[in-house]
Amino acid sequence: MSKGFTLWFTGLSGAGKTTLTNAVLPQLRERGVKVEVLDGDEVRTNLSKGLGFSKEDRDTNIQRIGYVARLLSRNGVGVIAAAISPYREIRDDVRRGIQADGAAFVEIYVKASLETLIARDVKGLYRKALAGEIKQFTGVSDPYEEPINPELVIDSDRETVAQGVAKIIAALERLGLFASAQGVRVTI
Ligand code: ADX
Repeated sequence: MSKGFTLWFTGLSGAGKTTLTNAVLPQLRERGVKVEVLDGDEVRTNLSKGLGFSKEDRDTNIQRIGYVARLLSRNGVGVIAAAISPYREIRDDVRRGIQADGAAFVEIYVKASLETLIARDVKGLYRKALAGEIKQFTGVSDPYEEPINPELVIDSDRETVAQGVAKIIAALERLGLFASAQGVRVTI
């Protein structure tokens, strides 16, 4: 069985976590990795239904995502988690848990300037947050603690999705996470 891992995307809403997830997913499957995705928006409709955006609720949300990621990645699955996960301490707790079980934790900071996010505003949430219609909005009226030493930083202001995906695949190769999948690949 190949070694499991968790790719943990962190970053502000709209920075590109879900876009990168969707782009990297087929590339992992192509390499023979079994993959599961835990996306913040989706998790909040089932596993974390009813949770809000206080620090306590966000931490609970991240603990739940981290718990599922841990169970899966210790069984050889490649997990992609994509949630804002604004608090460093809880991200580091998740990292420790996953590593303690012998799986790899790859923290990817998807970075974008607030100016860009406000200009893009795909979901129209920044406009509402700036108008005070949404309280405690990360990056506007609620904190985001940048990772201090992430495995990767993807600057979505400057890098294309394809460049970001290439960096992720290269990092996973460097970490030896495709080794056994490549060993059984058959070329015809
Ligand atoms: S986290 O902070 O607990 O990691 P999560 O990634 O699950 O957040 O959910 C973030 C998504 O919820 C955003 O992309 C946005 O669509 C929505 N959202 C609604 N209210 C807020 C808020 N106050 N702050 C941030 N995101 C919010």
